[in-house]
Amino acid sequence: MKTRSKKDLLQTFITIICDNYTTREDLEVSWGFSCLINYGGKNILFDTGSDSIVLSNNMARLGIDPASIDMLMISHQHWDHTGGIYYILNARRGVQVCVPKSFSVNFRKDMKRYGVELIEIDKAQEIFPGFYSTGDLEGPVREQAALLQTPSGTIVITGCAHPGIVKIVETAKKILPDDELALVMGGFHLFDDEDEDVFKIIARFKKMDVRYAAASHCSGENARKLFAREYGNHFIALGVGSAITLESIK
Ligand SMILES: [Fe+2]
Ligand SMILES: [Fe+2]
Repeated sequence: MKTRSKKDLLQTFITIICDNYTTREDLEVSWGFSCLINYGGKNILFDTGSDSIVLSNNMARLGIDPASIDMLMISHQHWDHTGGIYYILNARRGVQVCVPKSFSVNFRKDMKRYGVELIEIDKAQEIFPGFYSTGDLEGPVREQAALLQTPSGTIVITGCAHPGIVKIVETAKKILPDDELALVMGGFHLFDDEDEDVFKIIARFKKMDVRYAAASHCSGENARKLFAREYGNHFIALGVGSAITLESIK
């Protein structure tokens, strides 16, 4: 795979818009996840949190115009990831919407009513240069994750990681085998896991040379604590308002 240039590197920037945690008092916290990815000159909104009110308030306070979104990428069909979608569809008619192929027929029909350009993901796919979907991965709930190729390595962004966070990272490694894993961020879905299981997952992360970990949303308080302990200053305590630059994950 072709590695992106230094110029593209500087443009890569991720902002957390909805999350169970926050880094700023003026931003609203809610159960759910959404982040804005500026990559290759495009604005990609990955998931939309649980509702339009929180999404729109936080976007306004972060200075993000909903009409500037080029593509919506939805990880999986759960309310806390799809809840704010109509706020964007209303502000940005004809936006591209990228969803796993397993989304319900009614959901897809509804998207078409808004005149969106629907991209349905089955297998792993490069959606535009350097930006990938892992494919519609099997799990208790089917889900896709986003992969961003950067000169510092791959960034993996997950919604809830229902297919398993390790499986998602392994898939990223298969898709981009020559690239290092710079950062895995988002919901890891470990809130019911015992310490022992979380330690096994952290060990797998380390074996795959995941450089930075940013467990948030549904990762669970305990998993966040254990990741923070094991990753030290390579753990990023994500929350609404967090901004990831490639500088911060060198
Ligand atoms: Fe979730
Ligand atoms: Fe979920």
